[in-house]
Amino acid sequence: MKDVMLKTKNITFNYKEFDSAEELNPADRELLSSAIEAAKNAYAPYSGFKVGASVLLSSGKIILGTNVENAAFPSGICAERNALANASANHPGDFPVAIAVAAISGNELTPVPVSPCGNCRQVIAEEEVRNGTGIRVILGSANKIHVIEKGGDLLPLQFSRENLKVTRR
Ligand code: THU
Repeated sequence: MKDVMLKTKNITFNYKEFDSAEELNPADRELLSSAIEAAKNAYAPYSGFKVGASVLLSSGKIILGTNVENAAFPSGICAERNALANASANHPGDFPVAIAVAAISGNELTPVPVSPCGNCRQVIAEEEVRNGTGIRVILGSANKIHVIEKGGDLLPLQFSRENLKVTRR
Protein backbone atom coordinates (compact mmCIF):
# COMPACT_ATOMS: atom_id res chain seq x y z
CA MET A 1 0.00 0.00 0.00
CA LYS A 2 1.20 3.53 -0.85
CA ASP A 3 2.29 5.62 2.11
CA VAL A 4 -0.07 8.51 2.75
CA MET A 5 1.89 11.75 3.08
CA LEU A 6 -0.34 13.70 5.38
CA LYS A 7 0.66 17.31 5.83
CA THR A 8 -0.98 19.12 8.68
CA LYS A 9 -0.87 22.85 8.11
CA ASN A 10 -1.52 25.55 10.63
CA ILE A 11 -2.71 29.14 10.31
CA THR A 12 -2.50 31.55 13.21
CA PHE A 13 -2.79 35.27 13.53
CA ASN A 14 -2.15 37.80 16.25
CA TYR A 15 -4.54 40.52 17.31
CA LYS A 16 -4.46 43.08 20.07
CA GLU A 17 -6.91 43.31 22.93
CA PHE A 18 -7.46 46.56 24.81
CA ASP A 19 -9.40 47.07 28.03
CA SER A 20 -10.88 50.43 27.03
CA ALA A 21 -10.97 53.01 24.24
CA GLU A 22 -8.60 55.19 26.29
CA GLU A 23 -5.83 52.71 25.50
CA LEU A 24 -6.25 53.01 21.72
CA ASN A 25 -4.11 55.31 19.61
CA PRO A 26 -5.95 58.59 18.82
CA ALA A 27 -6.77 57.63 15.20
CA ASP A 28 -8.31 54.28 16.22
CA ARG A 29 -10.15 55.94 19.09
CA GLU A 30 -11.70 58.54 16.77
CA LEU A 31 -12.68 55.89 14.22
CA LEU A 32 -14.32 53.74 16.89
CA SER A 33 -16.16 56.68 18.35
CA SER A 34 -17.60 57.54 14.93
CA ALA A 35 -18.69 53.89 14.50
CA ILE A 36 -20.54 54.15 17.82
CA GLU A 37 -22.23 57.38 16.67
CA ALA A 38 -23.17 55.73 13.35
CA ALA A 39 -24.73 52.76 15.16
CA LYS A 40 -27.35 55.15 16.58
CA ASN A 41 -28.62 55.70 13.00
CA ALA A 42 -28.98 52.00 12.20
CA TYR A 43 -32.30 50.74 10.89
CA ALA A 44 -32.72 47.48 12.79
CA PRO A 45 -36.41 47.11 13.71
CA TYR A 46 -36.30 43.31 13.40
CA SER A 47 -33.18 42.36 15.34
CA GLY A 48 -32.89 45.42 17.59
CA PHE A 49 -29.13 45.03 16.99
CA LYS A 50 -27.86 48.38 15.76
CA VAL A 51 -24.45 48.24 14.10
CA GLY A 52 -22.25 51.13 13.01
CA ALA A 53 -19.15 50.93 10.83
CA SER A 54 -16.67 53.67 10.18
CA VAL A 55 -14.18 53.40 7.32
CA LEU A 56 -10.99 55.45 7.24
CA LEU A 57 -9.85 56.20 3.68
CA SER A 58 -6.24 56.84 2.67
CA SER A 59 -7.06 60.57 2.28
CA GLY A 60 -8.14 60.72 5.95
CA LYS A 61 -11.87 60.92 5.09
CA ILE A 62 -14.21 58.88 7.25
CA ILE A 63 -17.19 57.10 5.67
CA LEU A 64 -20.01 55.74 7.82
CA GLY A 65 -22.37 52.83 7.39
CA THR A 66 -25.05 51.12 9.44
CA ASN A 67 -27.01 47.94 9.08
CA VAL A 68 -30.26 48.55 7.18
CA GLU A 69 -32.74 45.73 7.72
CA ASN A 70 -35.75 44.78 5.63
CA ALA A 71 -39.01 42.91 6.18
CA ALA A 72 -37.63 40.51 3.56
CA PHE A 73 -34.76 39.58 5.88
CA PRO A 74 -32.05 38.68 3.29
CA SER A 75 -32.53 42.08 1.63
CA GLY A 76 -30.97 43.76 4.67
CA ILE A 77 -27.32 44.79 4.66
CA CYS A 78 -24.65 44.86 7.35
CA ALA A 79 -22.98 48.07 8.49
CA GLU A 80 -19.53 47.05 7.25
CA ARG A 81 -20.63 46.31 3.68
CA ASN A 82 -22.82 49.40 3.62
CA ALA A 83 -19.85 51.62 4.56
CA LEU A 84 -17.40 49.89 2.20
CA ALA A 85 -19.85 50.05 -0.75
CA ASN A 86 -20.46 53.73 -0.04
CA ALA A 87 -16.70 54.38 -0.01
CA SER A 88 -16.20 52.46 -3.26
CA ALA A 89 -19.05 54.23 -5.05
CA ASN A 90 -18.50 57.77 -3.81
CA HIS A 91 -14.74 57.96 -3.27
CA PRO A 92 -13.13 56.11 -6.17
CA GLY A 93 -9.38 55.72 -5.84
CA ASP A 94 -9.48 56.64 -2.16
CA PHE A 95 -9.00 53.20 -0.66
CA PRO A 96 -9.93 52.00 2.86
CA VAL A 97 -7.08 51.65 5.35
CA ALA A 98 -9.11 50.90 8.49
CA ILE A 99 -12.63 50.01 9.61
CA ALA A 100 -14.11 50.27 13.09
CA VAL A 101 -17.30 48.46 14.08
CA ALA A 102 -19.54 48.74 17.14
CA ALA A 103 -23.05 47.59 17.98
CA ILE A 104 -25.78 48.81 20.30
CA SER A 105 -28.30 46.36 21.70
CA GLY A 106 -30.93 47.40 24.24
CA ASN A 107 -29.48 50.94 24.29
CA GLU A 108 -26.07 49.66 25.42
CA LEU A 109 -22.87 48.90 23.59
CA THR A 110 -22.53 45.13 23.31
CA PRO A 111 -20.56 43.50 26.16
CA VAL A 112 -18.24 41.70 23.72
CA PRO A 113 -16.59 43.02 20.55
CA VAL A 114 -18.89 42.77 17.55
CA SER A 115 -17.58 40.20 15.10
CA PRO A 116 -18.02 40.81 11.34
CA CYS A 117 -20.10 38.14 9.60
CA GLY A 118 -18.61 35.90 6.93
CA ASN A 119 -20.00 38.00 4.05
CA CYS A 120 -18.42 41.14 5.49
CA ARG A 121 -15.08 39.37 6.05
CA GLN A 122 -15.15 38.37 2.38
CA VAL A 123 -15.84 41.95 1.30
CA ILE A 124 -13.11 43.39 3.57
CA ALA A 125 -10.69 40.82 2.12
CA GLU A 126 -11.65 41.78 -1.45
CA GLU A 127 -10.94 45.46 -0.72
CA GLU A 128 -7.49 44.51 0.55
CA VAL A 129 -6.72 42.48 -2.57
CA ARG A 130 -8.20 45.16 -4.84
CA ASN A 131 -6.08 47.93 -3.37
CA GLY A 132 -3.01 45.93 -2.39
CA THR A 133 -3.23 47.15 1.20
CA GLY A 134 -4.13 45.83 4.61
CA ILE A 135 -7.26 47.12 6.32
CA ARG A 136 -6.96 47.55 10.06
CA VAL A 137 -10.07 46.26 11.84
CA ILE A 138 -11.13 47.75 15.20
CA LEU A 139 -13.93 45.87 16.93
CA GLY A 140 -15.52 47.74 19.81
CA SER A 141 -17.64 46.82 22.80
CA ALA A 142 -18.46 48.17 26.24
CA ASN A 143 -15.49 46.22 27.60
CA LYS A 144 -12.70 44.79 25.44
CA ILE A 145 -11.64 46.18 22.08
CA HIS A 146 -9.97 43.98 19.48
CA VAL A 147 -7.61 45.32 16.83
CA ILE A 148 -6.67 43.13 13.87
CA GLU A 149 -3.97 44.53 11.58
CA LYS A 150 -5.22 42.89 8.39
CA GLY A 151 -8.89 42.10 7.81
CA GLY A 152 -7.99 39.12 5.63
CA ASP A 153 -6.61 37.41 8.74
CA LEU A 154 -10.24 36.96 9.80
CA LEU A 155 -10.82 34.78 6.74
CA PRO A 156 -8.09 32.19 6.31
CA LEU A 157 -8.04 30.30 3.00
CA GLN A 158 -10.41 32.89 1.58
CA PHE A 159 -12.02 32.57 -1.84
CA SER A 160 -10.34 35.11 -4.08
CA ARG A 161 -9.58 36.10 -7.66
CA GLU A 162 -6.85 33.43 -7.63
CA ASN A 163 -9.54 30.76 -7.42
CA LEU A 164 -11.39 32.20 -10.40
CA LYS A 165 -8.22 32.06 -12.50
CA VAL A 166 -7.89 28.31 -12.17
CA THR A 167 -11.55 27.45 -12.64
CA ARG A 168 -12.55 29.79 -15.48
CA ARG A 169 -12.82 28.15 -18.95
N1 THU B 1 -24.80 42.89 11.52
C1 THU B 1 -23.97 43.86 11.04
O1 THU B 1 -24.42 44.89 10.51
N2 THU B 1 -22.64 43.67 11.18
C2 THU B 1 -22.06 42.64 11.87
O2 THU B 1 -20.84 42.61 11.98
C3 THU B 1 -22.89 41.61 12.47
C4 THU B 1 -24.33 41.65 12.10
C5 THU B 1 -26.25 43.12 11.44
C6 THU B 1 -27.03 42.26 10.49
C7 THU B 1 -28.41 42.33 11.10
O3 THU B 1 -29.05 43.52 10.68
C8 THU B 1 -28.15 42.45 12.59
O4 THU B 1 -26.81 42.90 12.72
C9 THU B 1 -28.33 41.15 13.38
O5 THU B 1 -27.61 40.13 12.79
